[in-house]
Amino acid sequence: MFITFEGPEGSGKTSQIPPLVDFLRAQGVDLFPTREPGGTPISDQVRSILMNMDNQAMHPRTEILLFCASRAQIVEQVIRPKLAHGCTVLCDRYADSTLAYQGYGHGLDKVFLRELLEFTTGGLWPDCTILLDIDVQQGLQRKQQCRGEWNRLDAYELAFHERVRQGYLEMAHQQPERWQIVDASQSQEAVQQTLRSILLNRLASRAR
Ligand SMILES: Nc1ncnc2c1ncn2[C@@H]1O[C@H](COP(=O)(O)OP(=O)(O)O)[C@@H](O)[C@H]1O
Ligand SMILES: [Mg+2]
Repeated sequence: MFITFEGPEGSGKTSQIPPLVDFLRAQGVDLFPTREPGGTPISDQVRSILMNMDNQAMHPRTEILLFCASRAQIVEQVIRPKLAHGCTVLCDRYADSTLAYQGYGHGLDKVFLRELLEFTTGGLWPDCTILLDIDVQQGLQRKQQCRGEWNRLDAYELAFHERVRQGYLEMAHQQPERWQIVDASQSQEAVQQTLRSILLNRLASRAR
């Protein structure tokens, strides 16, 4: 099973995944956690270009292609082989991030982006996508509070982040069988409990 985590900045994706992985492993689930962009040596090199605050001049098209380059590599080098071995893969961000940020955020053609993402992933889409949904300002404030986590992609204006959030919600409503919306404004513990029960349910219904 291929599970992805999506949501605006500061919604808690990166902090929720490690305790979730520990919990699911203790339940006997064979899990492989990874993140986007990154997750292979080549993808990590591309990630550092994308996150570099010095690269303010980066054009949105350049940005898309770099995300896709990183993703194409992790899909073939890591995600597909793990899934083929029966492993459940958990990914912190995936193709839906491109639709949310470049499509809804930057206003690029979403039909074209979907085709580009089909090419990039070789048609590999998640079985389940968790949307950690949060008020944009609340998410950005969380990010600012934990210094060091601020990167080039957080520096866009608020309206951009609001379009991203609404884009995520629209995608989740378009494909309710794949997406699960979680209220990420709750405490870290409450979000973790919700995630545990959602994934136990999904994994159990998959096994039946
Ligand atoms: N439910 C929560 N309540 C309060 N703070 C949170 C919560 N979830 C995450 N945080 C904090 O917010 C910051 C951003 O979280 P992070 O997991 O990096 O978000 P994301 O990966 O979605 O951008 C971190 O400092 C984290 O500890
Ligand atoms: Mg993160």
